Amino acid sequence: MPPFYVTTPIYYVNDAPHIGHAYTTVAADALARWHRLNGRETFFLTGTDEHGQKVQRAADKLGRTPQAHADEMHLRFKALWARLDIQYDDFIRTTEPRHVAFVQDLLQKLHDRGELYQAPYSGWYSTSAERFWTDEEVAAAGGLCPDTGSPVEWLTEHNWFFRMSAYQERLMAHIAANPSCIQPDTRRNEVLGYLRKPLADLCISRPKTRLAWGIPLPFSPDYVTYVWFDALSNYVSALQDPPARMVFWPEALQLVGKDILTFHTVYWFSMLMAAGMSPPKQVYAHGWWLMTGKKMSKSIGNVIKPDAMIDAYGADALRYFLLAAVPFGGDGEFTHEAFLHRYNSDLANDIGNLSHRATSMPEKWLGSVVPAVGVQTEEDRELQAVAVRATSAFTANMEIVQFKAALEGLWELVRAGNKYIDSQAPWALNKRGETERLGTVLRNVMEVVRVAYSYLACVTPGKSREVLSRLGATEPDLDPTFDRLVTGHPVSHRDPIFLRLDAIPESLVSTDPVVPAAAAAPPPAAPPVAAPPADEPAAPVAQIEYDDFAKLQLRTGLVLTADKHPKADRLLVLSVDIGEGKPRTIVAGIAAVYDPAELVGKTVIVVANLKPAKLRGIESQGMLLAAGGSDIASILTPYRPVPPGSVVK
Ligand code: MSP
Repeated sequence: MPPFYVTTPIYYVNDAPHIGHAYTTVAADALARWHRLNGRETFFLTGTDEHGQKVQRAADKLGRTPQAHADEMHLRFKALWARLDIQYDDFIRTTEPRHVAFVQDLLQKLHDRGELYQAPYSGWYSTSAERFWTDEEVAAAGGLCPDTGSPVEWLTEHNWFFRMSAYQERLMAHIAANPSCIQPDTRRNEVLGYLRKPLADLCISRPKTRLAWGIPLPFSPDYVTYVWFDALSNYVSALQDPPARMVFWPEALQLVGKDILTFHTVYWFSMLMAAGMSPPKQVYAHGWWLMTGKKMSKSIGNVIKPDAMIDAYGADALRYFLLAAVPFGGDGEFTHEAFLHRYNSDLANDIGNLSHRATSMPEKWLGSVVPAVGVQTEEDRELQAVAVRATSAFTANMEIVQFKAALEGLWELVRAGNKYIDSQAPWALNKRGETERLGTVLRNVMEVVRVAYSYLACVTPGKSREVLSRLGATEPDLDPTFDRLVTGHPVSHRDPIFLRLDAIPESLVSTDPVVPAAAAAPPPAAPPVAAPPADEPAAPVAQIEYDDFAKLQLRTGLVLTADKHPKADRLLVLSVDIGEGKPRTIVAGIAAVYDPAELVGKTVIVVANLKPAKLRGIESQGMLLAAGGSDIASILTPYRPVPPGSVVK
């Protein structure tokens, strides 16, 4: 088996880590753990990107050196990775001497090979964005910086350039010959599209007078190197010592966000080619975590703090959610409702329940030990077949970096395990005194738990360790056959491994008082109240008494499913959880403005006490509130996260 090397981007020390950063690192950790579990020699690298103007400015403001600033700030990442159970093999910082030495050697090598040259560089410079813009870009932004909207100045600098344009053909040929070197396919096509346009040379220096906090060019000490040239080199600088580490390089799988794909392919591949090295085996670009449709980022301020999620749900639940909620490569909208829903259904209900049953039943009936493998019936063999199928699906999908599909594959076994308990009814076997069969059934259930938690060990390492140890297994064991536990080993039964939660933990929601639906007065029957459409003049409106308004029972509801109405183009059929235990079916005339898929996981406002009405054959048990009058512009959603069933007034 060849070795396995996985990397994350190195994170800017200036940002506080958020869910977006945790995402790449958790994904890399899951892969590293998976390959280690399979006995593959594995190296997992992460780290921090510590040079550049932003770090220098932040340090200046605090009256400290940039190095002292980076020394402190990088610890926030290390602390979060410790909380998230991230098992990296090395953490590289771009200010470490080993990295600086490597970058300078690389620059010297490229210089000696004639890959670098000096030339004037002119453009519109934005101090706030720390970069040059072209004439067209500035013109399109009304003469201002397209990023920050602040004034730009025309600057001419003498800089060093890398002959990247010379690599255009080689880059295209390399990608064509190794189509899997950029994944997903759509991203590879984007890169190829980029390469079809003329490729310019890359300016790789900054005069020290403008930027002092960087790695000096060894052959031109008045300049420091461009931060991306510095940062990208980390993936190889970390493998220099001991030199044997370089065996990992040809096997590199580099996980990056889609926003930094061009850097990691066009720039990085050509830098490596110029240095006489091979490009990484694969660069995999994942999508973004969004909040209300926008990329989660510190500058927008719409970030979810991983620490708060870990406090509320535990590290493993966060790790699981990040990997199970969206296919790797696509974007995902982060909502607390969707998190709670998935936590309860997949973790507390499905797998949590399964392991709880596996340890509580022997405690009650068999003296808390692993029972012997007995004679297997047809149903037992079927369950065994599911275990083989589910684990191969997991394996196949992990090989193609599809965590969600891998977990869905494994869940076939988890659900089959729960169904098997229901159909075999061990409580009835116990009652009838069929002890041998009871032992066989429980042993099979324990083996299902052992298999499921062993595969999950790369995603939920803490919970897996805990459950496996309850069954007497010290290490995850990926063999799906149902005879791997130690017969007679004591089984310990403790608290549920994932506690069911009735509402979004308070620490994560607004501090505004929310009244749970159960505490509200029973809804009196009342006629629907139609709001005046906003696209008509707002006044005059007939006034009503408060008591009339109070008749209206409005609740927040979590959209669980949304589908097109089979008989009406205009209508969508939603299933909405409004905190009653059973979801409501709501038929809404919003098909022209909403795609069913985008509504799932959204919190809506539901008129809960509207008399049910049949709409084209489907009974609607309520109505959604929407703004825009007859031409609906937007459904209404709460400004801050609130649990389903909260009273709206
Ligand atoms: N320092 C550079 C990377 C240099 S690698 C040689 C950088 N750092 S970053 O801290 O801004 O971003 C690091 C990674 O986090 C990127 O892959 C980026 O895509 C990812 N994310 C930042 N916000 C994100 C989301 N909202 N969602 C998912 N990932 C996102 O870029």
